[in-house]
Amino acid sequence: MKVTVVGTGYVGLVSGTCLAEVGNDVLCLDVDPEKIRILNEGGIPIFEPGLQEMVRRNVAAGRLHFTTDVERAAHHGTIQFVAVGTPPDEDGSADLRYVLAAARNIGRLMTDYKVIVDKSTVPVGTGAKVKAAIADELQKRGVSIPFSVVSNPEFLKEGAAVEDFMRPDRVIIGADDEQAVFLMRALYAPFQRNHERLIVTDVKSAELTKYAANAMLATRISFMNELANLAEKLGADIEMVRQGIGSDPRIGYHFLYPGCGYGGSCFPKDVKALIKTAGDDAGIRLKVLSAVEDANDAQKHILTEKLKNRFGDLSGKHFAVWGLAFKPNTDDMREAPSRELIADLFAAGATVTTYDPVAMDEARRIFGEDSRLSYAKTPMDALREADALIVVTEWKEFRSPDFDEIRGLLKTPAIFDGRNLYDPKFVRGMGIEYFGIGR
Ligand SMILES: NC(=O)c1ccc[n+]([C@@H]2O[C@H](COP(=O)([O-])OP(=O)(O)OC[C@H]3O[C@@H](n4cnc5c(N)ncnc54)[C@H](O)[C@@H]3O)[C@@H](O)[C@H]2O)c1
Repeated sequence: MKVTVVGTGYVGLVSGTCLAEVGNDVLCLDVDPEKIRILNEGGIPIFEPGLQEMVRRNVAAGRLHFTTDVERAAHHGTIQFVAVGTPPDEDGSADLRYVLAAARNIGRLMTDYKVIVDKSTVPVGTGAKVKAAIADELQKRGVSIPFSVVSNPEFLKEGAAVEDFMRPDRVIIGADDEQAVFLMRALYAPFQRNHERLIVTDVKSAELTKYAANAMLATRISFMNELANLAEKLGADIEMVRQGIGSDPRIGYHFLYPGCGYGGSCFPKDVKALIKTAGDDAGIRLKVLSAVEDANDAQKHILTEKLKNRFGDLSGKHFAVWGLAFKPNTDDMREAPSRELIADLFAAGATVTTYDPVAMDEARRIFGEDSRLSYAKTPMDALREADALIVVTEWKEFRSPDFDEIRGLLKTPAIFDGRNLYDPKFVRGMGIEYFGIGR
């Protein structure tokens, strides 16, 4: 099939590449000429395991192309995926500017039947807005060309995005017409050879499903973070509690890890947007989700609190921070807890040396040149002259460090473990003070 993907970010690039991998003829469009230049020169603008090789393979096979040419993109695909960003607006609602601009471009330039597929995470009712925008452009041109609008939210996880797209748990197709469902079914057939994963719904239910999924996952995290803070005060160990409740199949082990808050490009903005649309469009205050958000905002400062409790005044102190990305296997630092922590430390007069296996370039872009922040070449290098080590992202390479070396390098041998990576007894047994979350 001929497929256009509008927006070549995490979601667009992964979707486009995986669709090319199974034999489709895919053209990825982006308004950012730098991204397209990098891709056309054989690089990739993001870190995502397994993606670069797959991009190269499909480019070489002539099935995957990149462009900034809007007209070429509008003509290319019968199926036009819209995978542009939907960042939070000032009031927390999803900013639909990019989605609607992409839709209008398609309406302005299309010459034959198109299925416009919303892959971006968009509030309920966006499908109708996209439909209206395209119809308006066609009317301005005085032409009548048939088109369908489909909602196909994406559930891939950064860090495992290729695997998630190639073997999805489910593919949600929200559509109101048979022809569009027929085409989407054909497009996704190669991804569900083992068993049917397609769930066909109406457009609005598909749109809400994506928010419901992220809201549920965020809720589990905030719930565990609150219980962790309680466990700590009561003298219980949240890790034991986690295993105790996770063993109940109704609860399960997934997504019950307490830590220093959730971040990333999805949970924070999607929780905010759902609260906002519920209030504005339905007059409903989502009390549970408001609490989820409050709890997370507070949790992002939990490590700072622990540092202050241990050291008192942080001014003049120097800390090693392991991990900048909002989670392992990505360079994405959008809403990452590391950003709040580093900002807190600066505000308190402390300085930081950090190490992250892939996100340090992104951190340089975010923080700019700042004498209070330096970057180490290895995790151990970050510890020199530091008062304590703070672990913020659970990269595999941090899981089993040489604790003797850590003790030797730190001024005050102390670890603030924002991801509960280490066994408190073991670390203390090595002569290092240990501060975890809820333990
Ligand atoms: N990142 C994830 O893990 C993830 C997972 C599921 C869903 N989503 C959702 O998918 C959407 C995209 O997320 P992302 O992380 O890929 O965003 P991103 O910021 O990485 O990529 C968006 C891209 O769209 C481009 N763009 C903007 N307007 C355009 C236009 N009119 N024409 C062409 N290109 C345009 C931007 O230049 C950018 O490269 C969001 O709605 C997000 O919520 C993201």
